[in-house]
Amino acid sequence: MNARSFAATTIFAVALSATGHLGAQAPATQTAAGGSTPTYSKDVAPIFYKNCTGCHRPGEIGPMPLVSYQDARPWARSIALRIKAETMPPWHADPSHGEFVNDRRLSEADRNTILEWVNAGSPEGNKADLPELPKFADGWQIQPDAVFTMQEDYPVPERGTVEYKYFEIPTNFTEDKYVTAYEVRPGDRSVVHHVIVFAKNPPRPAAPANSAAGAPIAPAPRRQGPVTFAPNMEEPKDENAENAKKGPLNDRPAPRGGTGGDVASFAPGQAVRVLADGTGIKVPAGATLVFQMHYTAIGKATTDRSRIGLVFAKEKPRQEVVVVPLANQNFTLPAGASDIKVDAEVTLNRDTTVWSLLPHTHVRGKRWEYQAIYPDGRTETILSVPKYDFNWQTDYVYKQPLKLPKGTKIHSTAWYDNSAANKSNPDPTVDVHWGDQTWQEMQFTAFSFTFEAQPETTSSASLR
Ligand code: HEC
Repeated sequence: MNARSFAATTIFAVALSATGHLGAQAPATQTAAGGSTPTYSKDVAPIFYKNCTGCHRPGEIGPMPLVSYQDARPWARSIALRIKAETMPPWHADPSHGEFVNDRRLSEADRNTILEWVNAGSPEGNKADLPELPKFADGWQIQPDAVFTMQEDYPVPERGTVEYKYFEIPTNFTEDKYVTAYEVRPGDRSVVHHVIVFAKNPPRPAAPANSAAGAPIAPAPRRQGPVTFAPNMEEPKDENAENAKKGPLNDRPAPRGGTGGDVASFAPGQAVRVLADGTGIKVPAGATLVFQMHYTAIGKATTDRSRIGLVFAKEKPRQEVVVVPLANQNFTLPAGASDIKVDAEVTLNRDTTVWSLLPHTHVRGKRWEYQAIYPDGRTETILSVPKYDFNWQTDYVYKQPLKLPKGTKIHSTAWYDNSAANKSNPDPTVDVHWGDQTWQEMQFTAFSFTFEAQPETTSSASLR
């Protein structure tokens, strides 16, 4: 599938997977029709191909392939359990708030088909009914204008937890570029759990020592009170950037260690993103791309060298998609406390279109919620992630971007469990504060937005 082919027809189109098949929400056509028992070949395989094999095939992140009947049969019980618990396919947002292009959930009908099939003893059925196996794209799905590759192989160990790793790749851009599409291609897909790519602005004279190549992103400066901050907004050269500089944040503390906005995020099965026509993400001249890599050990040592391909706008896009953090760095999670709430809020000072939200905490984070509080006082939940999972960093991309009028507040709330009951908690006996390390915490959201275009000036002739 060429990602460009549907870019023209879909607003903010995102290829739902790296694998060339459609994503989770296609309506089911194969319920156990007429009360007959669903079989693997006829009813279940099409669902697996659509919703599972993107990750569950050899060389991908899923721990076992679900490509053939022989693959699936021994896992039937486990599949039923995970589907009932809604922990597979992985998706953590509450469907009653917002619709997202990258939603991986099964439809109700598909869910029922799989559960009925397992209950019936997971019969294979007639092989002749098997649909064609989806073709898994080998090469680029977009035609990148530039490809940036990690400069070293990262050795992923056989086992153990690998902290997030950061790799820097200079762009050597001599002018600002606007990214209209990107694709992340992991070196070894079986170990790459997520990638977030940031654009780091060129170093200024007093660049901190820790901005050296390969160094982790510097921790954000500690500030008093709930704060929001917006990096990557210096040097406005035009009205849009000028406005970006002014807001939407009404409080603009220091940039985070010189790190710019994020450019791209990758999660298994969601490698390609094509932005809406007329929009682009700016990568400034001289910027360095920073890859944040989350690796998971798979019982076999391997190496990874991931890449990103970028497509650039031929001319400056009408609207710049700006990605900024909304964060609160000033909190204490008391030792042993199991339900701590931390908020952050921003007031939009212009009409703003919000395209996506990427909630981020570390291992003590357990839940997120976002509200839009409109100028008329109305409050709407725009995203709810009731079972936040640190392992799955998801950029929730709206099907219909949110049009929020000037004066709207975006309010984020994260809940944390710093008690021993949290199995991921490395130490329930310490108070925890903001910090980059996994044993510290964050209340951090990357949200992407554009400002409303000015109304087109209509000539008097066309009004008649
Ligand atoms: C986005 C990638 C992705 C998709 C899509 C996905 N899985 Fe998974 N699956 C994983 C990963 C990674 C794991 C291992 C981590 C975990 O258990 O959460 C896993 C684990 C599982 C397990 C547990 C295996 C074990 O070792 O016990 C089952 C069962 C499973 N998946 C079934 C499915 C089914 C069925 C679908 C489709 C309906 C599906 N998955 C879709 C990534 C995925």
